[in-house]
Amino acid sequence: MGNNVTNYDLLVLGSGAAGLSVVLRALERNPDLKIAILAKNGPGDGSTAYAQGGIAAVMDGSEKDATDSIDSHVADTLDAGAGLCNERAVRFVAERAKAAIEWLVAQGVAFDRENNAEFHLGREGGHSHRRIVHSTDATGRAVEDALITRLRERGVKLLDQHFAVDLIVNDHRCVGAYILNSATGHVETIPARVVVLATGGASRVYLYSTNPVGSTGDGMAMAWRAGARVGNMEFSQFHPTCLYHPKERSFLITEAVRGEGGKLLRPSAPYSDGTRFMDSYDSRGELAPRDIVARAIDDVMKREGHDCVYLDISHRPADFVQHHFPTIYAKLMTLGIDITKEPIPVVPAAHYTSGGVITDLKARTNVANLYAVGEVACTGLHGANRLASNSLLECLVFGDAAGADIVEKLPAIADPPPIRAWDESWVTDSDEEVVVAHNWDELRRFMWDYVGIVRSTKRLQRAQHRVKLLTSEIAEYYASFRVTKDLLELRNLVLVADLIVRSALARKESRGLHFTIDYPGLKPGKPKDTVLTPRGK
Ligand code: FAD
Ligand code: SIN
Repeated sequence: MGNNVTNYDLLVLGSGAAGLSVVLRALERNPDLKIAILAKNGPGDGSTAYAQGGIAAVMDGSEKDATDSIDSHVADTLDAGAGLCNERAVRFVAERAKAAIEWLVAQGVAFDRENNAEFHLGREGGHSHRRIVHSTDATGRAVEDALITRLRERGVKLLDQHFAVDLIVNDHRCVGAYILNSATGHVETIPARVVVLATGGASRVYLYSTNPVGSTGDGMAMAWRAGARVGNMEFSQFHPTCLYHPKERSFLITEAVRGEGGKLLRPSAPYSDGTRFMDSYDSRGELAPRDIVARAIDDVMKREGHDCVYLDISHRPADFVQHHFPTIYAKLMTLGIDITKEPIPVVPAAHYTSGGVITDLKARTNVANLYAVGEVACTGLHGANRLASNSLLECLVFGDAAGADIVEKLPAIADPPPIRAWDESWVTDSDEEVVVAHNWDELRRFMWDYVGIVRSTKRLQRAQHRVKLLTSEIAEYYASFRVTKDLLELRNLVLVADLIVRSALARKESRGLHFTIDYPGLKPGKPKDTVLTPRGK
């Protein structure tokens, strides 16, 4: 065992909505816990701080829409999930949504209200009612800032620049993790009685994504290497409306813009006629679930040869647009686009990993003392397609469930045994950074081209072949050179790409987010999750 090693009760990898909820909820039940929580870059580096639209929740007492109900939230989630949601998980989450919002309010999150009283409820695709609680168009920032403030008040130190390399499993239980301290360049050992993966998604496996650069599927890859099962990895969600601009290719234009009447248009003359197209794809038009809208845009762009389509909210009064979408308005003004006067060029981009590490309703994985919460997890809530604004909600509800279960179980969990320190004695510094960068680029490009919105068996096989080549090249670097953040992220992304492609090849039908021209319809019979199990488990 290395020197100066501290044992923790709880090690939480990730400090977005999921990780912060787990920590705060566990401390509410036992304030004496010894906890370490990590961010691989800095506070607010995950997707949470970028979330715009809001959090889906049926809040009763709404004068605006007394007809909404938990059953309706459940039905919309099941419908978006295209037959693959676990109804128990869906109900579990929908029933706890109101309490999750009330908890956030108690943590200091200021949501938009009407006349300083009732919540202002937004509307998004796939929702049959207005039920999105939000903080203008920067909900995630409001949530992240409030929870980080509460964390600091509790005296919990957030270890930033700490990158989890791998989980440590001893005698079939998780007992800690190896962590690259980016400040020193060395890998440290953090032993803990319980470990929580809250590392977010993997959408940066694609060339174009709405996600911050750190969404590299580290948690999914670490879990797989540690023996955890993953599910439904083929369901990569593409958000329909990411800004298309030469200076900015990852800025999201929230679905709430369509919820407030935004229309999707073809380009205008001389490229096209500027007309709407969504009605010919789905009777819900612009407010159909995301998979349908993203596929429709992709279809219009490919069939008619456009680089992008347009999202227009300029018919609404300028003060209304500025009031509801201040972040988007300000950002686009810096790029010379006045959204109160002109339409916004948009394209679909990778947005959310609907599958992940399989958990039960207490966020437990199949590896003892290892939990997974948030986008890293596959809880059964999203099925084949996540419903808008159900993700932050999932982080909060499962963060609470995990916190409760961990506090209950901890007294019976022994301290970790002595752990061997990370051995760097045989490695050298790499002079191959440029190769790592090329491999990153190659991976993201072929995932975009072959494993995107529309797939085919041939394209998936092509991707699989390239994944194999990259895997063996990366294994060689990993064995010979001192680990760096870039190399570790690439290693994780390639593994996640492999899991996505294998899952996509296994699904011989088109369902939700997975569409393949070789099996364009639904397979008859009861739909099945795609479950992958690491060899030997
Ligand atoms: P993240 O918030 O992504 O946090 C991951 C954390 O893990 C980070 O702290 C990161 O540093 C850490 N981490 C990762 N790898 C490692 C490692 N190897 N070692 C140590 N730490 C690591 N959802 C909604 O419900 N409503 C919305 O309005 C909404 N809008 C969105 C808008 C955008 C632009 C994006 C990108 C997503 C949006 N989503 C929305 C989705 C939602 O924001 C995410 O799914 C959710 O925030 C994920 O939270 P998380 O805590 O699981 O992960
Ligand atoms: C958005 O605001 O459009 C994103 C909502 C989500 O991803 O749930």
